[in-house]
Amino acid sequence: MEKAIVIYTSKRGSTKQYAEWIAEDLGCEAVAFSDVDFKALNLYEYDCIVYGGWIRGSGIVDFDKFAKHLDADLMKRLIVFGVGFADETADNYAQVWGYSIGKIDPKNENGAVLYILGGRYDPEVVTGLDRLLMKIMRKVLVSGSTKDARAGVNKMRDRIDNGVDMVERGNIAALVRDAKKRS
Ligand SMILES: Cc1cc2nc3c(=O)[nH]c(=O)nc-3n(C[C@H](O)[C@H](O)[C@H](O)COP(=O)(O)O)c2cc1C
Repeated sequence: MEKAIVIYTSKRGSTKQYAEWIAEDLGCEAVAFSDVDFKALNLYEYDCIVYGGWIRGSGIVDFDKFAKHLDADLMKRLIVFGVGFADETADNYAQVWGYSIGKIDPKNENGAVLYILGGRYDPEVVTGLDRLLMKIMRKVLVSGSTKDARAGVNKMRDRIDNGVDMVERGNIAALVRDAKKRS
């Protein structure tokens, strides 16, 4: 394929792992968002721009900061991936989309695409503000549970309490196919 780049933000490694797998399959570089010098990097050189971030409270971390460097032309080359521990239901997808691509292109006129990839969560290693946010998320989840939603809520509660690891290389297949088609 023509030139591609993968830019990512990862706190505990799973998003970084996906970014590296994707870059390997596309034959390009994966760069941490915090290491990118946007004055030196010319995004117009790339036919395919992949941005990945870990999901925090349904938002893709640093996407809003990254999006400041995009215009309509660059959005047409954009594939976004978010890494989270929630199942990819229509509701979850819509929420994450609304906080990311939907915020800057609500009618999706430029055709940027979002993928949600299964993440990793270990309650033992989460500290500080993240720990507090997770406590609040758990409370909201459990208190808002209706009878119909109970099974899904119990599953999420179990993941919050005991952790989960859904990181698998196979999860990137559709994204990589899509990226290759864009060049
Ligand atoms: C404070 C906090 C909030 C989170 N919120 C969500 C969320 O809203 N939806 C989701 O699917 N995953 C959520 N997660 C799960 C992580 O995004 C997921 O485990 C991801 O794999 C972490 O990526 P990293 O290993 O690159 O840091 C949250 C995790 C933390 C610590």
